[in-house]
Amino acid sequence: MAKNKTAAGYKGPSGDQKRRDGEGRSCVRFRCGLTNTIQDVLRQRPGWVEVKDGGEWDFNWCDVGWLRENFDHSYMEEHVRISHFRNHYELTRKNLMVKNLKRYRKTLEREADRIEAAKCDFFPRTFELPSEYHLFVEEFKRIPGSTWIMKPVARSQGKGIFLFRKLKDIIDWKKDGIRSDEQRDETQVESYVAQRYIENPYLISGRKFDLRVYVLVTSYIPLKAWLYRDGFARFSSTRFSLTSIDDHYVHLTNVAVQKTAPDYDPEKGCKWQVQQLRSYLTARHGRETVEALFKDIDNIFVRSLQSVQKVIINDKHCFELYGYDILLDQDLKPWLIEVNASPSLTASSQEDYEMKCHLLEDTLHIVDMEGRLTGKEKRVGGYDLMWNDGPVYTEDVNLETTGSCCFTANTHLGCVNNRKKQLRQLLKPIPGQKRI
Ligand SMILES: Nc1ncnc2c1ncn2[C@@H]1O[C@H](COP(=O)(O)OP(=O)(O)O)[C@@H](O)[C@H]1O
Ligand SMILES: [Mg+2]
Repeated sequence: MAKNKTAAGYKGPSGDQKRRDGEGRSCVRFRCGLTNTIQDVLRQRPGWVEVKDGGEWDFNWCDVGWLRENFDHSYMEEHVRISHFRNHYELTRKNLMVKNLKRYRKTLEREADRIEAAKCDFFPRTFELPSEYHLFVEEFKRIPGSTWIMKPVARSQGKGIFLFRKLKDIIDWKKDGIRSDEQRDETQVESYVAQRYIENPYLISGRKFDLRVYVLVTSYIPLKAWLYRDGFARFSSTRFSLTSIDDHYVHLTNVAVQKTAPDYDPEKGCKWQVQQLRSYLTARHGRETVEALFKDIDNIFVRSLQSVQKVIINDKHCFELYGYDILLDQDLKPWLIEVNASPSLTASSQEDYEMKCHLLEDTLHIVDMEGRLTGKEKRVGGYDLMWNDGPVYTEDVNLETTGSCCFTANTHLGCVNNRKKQLRQLLKPIPGQKRI
C-alpha cells in the first residue's frame, strides 16, 4: 500500500453518503493479496475493479502478513472493508485459542455455574511449551501410556507436527534443567502446544477424518456470526492405527499432507461434502443423534467466538472468514482442533473450486459493499445467521400436526444448499434503482 494513510478510501462520484443512503455503489475498487479462488471471484464480480498495490481500495482481501505490516498505518473511510480483525490471532493461534477458552470457562464457572462452564469442554487438554512444561509433565504422568500431539503454535498444513508417548521426545521444550549448555545457548525453541491426542476418532472405512467448516464474523460487539451450509470432511488415506504414531498419513488429515501420499488419487481426492457425511451418519445413527451432534458443533462455534469477544479489537471495517477444524470421536463427540484465519482457498478439484467460489461469493454478498441488503436477513445464499447478539431461531410453524410454533436454531450445516434460488429472491433488482 502506497504512502500509508491514503490507500484505503473511496472518492468515487457517488461518495460515502450515497452508500449510507442505501444506494448501490457503481464501482468497488478491490485489492487482493492472494492468487487463488478469491482472486477469481473478486475479478468476476460485476462492477468491481482491481487496483494494484499502492492504489486506493474500498475492499481488501489481504493475508495476515499484510495486515501485520499495514493495518496500523491505514486510514480507512467509513465504507471500507478488510478481511481480518486486527488481532485475529487471539482465536487463530493454537496457544492463544486455548488460553482464551480456558479463561472463558473459568469466567462461566464463576459467573454462571458448572453446567454452563462444562459446555466449553470441547477442546483436548492442551499446554503451551516451553512455558507450561511443568504443568504438562504433571498431567502427562497422571495418565500413563497416553498419546500426545505436538504442534507449532503458528504453522499450518500439518507442518512441524509429531505424536509422542515419551517425555524424552520433547526434551527440547523443557524449560530449564537438563537441556545441554549448548542447547541452552541457542535461541529459544519455537513455541508449541502439547495436546492430548484423540485416540478414538470416528472412523469410516477404517479411516480417520476431520471437518472443515466455515464461519463468517461480521462484528464482535455485538457478536454477529454466520454459518455456511457446505463444508467437507478430509480423510486420511491410510487405515487408522495407534501402533504407527510416526506415520502422518494415518494421523494428520490435512489435504496438504494427504496429497503427498504415494497412493493419492487426485481425481478421487480425500474429501466428502459435509452433506454426504451428514446423510451417512443419519443412516447409521438416526436423525435425533445426528441433530444432537450438529447442535454440539454449533455450540463450539458460538462458545469459541464468545471466548474472544472481549479480546478481539472490534472494528466496523473488519470481517473474518474462519475455517474451523472439528474432529469427531467414536462417541460422536465433536472436538475443536483449531480455527484458521486464512482457510485454504486453493481448490483441490473442480467440485472443491465451485464450492469455494460459492462460499466466497456469498461472503461478499454479506459484506455487502453494494448496499443491497437491509441488514435484517437471516439467510444469504449458503449462509445462515447463527448468532446476532443472541441465538437466532427459525420459526417452524407446525400447524398441521400440533397447531403450534416451535423454535429451532437457525443453522443448517450439511443440509441442502439451494443458494441460487435464495439469492434470486433476496437480491431482486428494485425497479428504477441502479444496481451493480
Ligand atoms: N488433538 C488431536 N487429536 C487427534 N488428531 C489431531 C489432534 N490435533 C491435530 N490432529 C490432526 O492433525 C491435523 C493438523 O492439526 P492442526 O491443529 O489442524 O494443525 P495445522 O495448523 O497444521 O493444520 C488435524 O487436521 C487432525 O487431523
Ligand atoms: Mg488444521
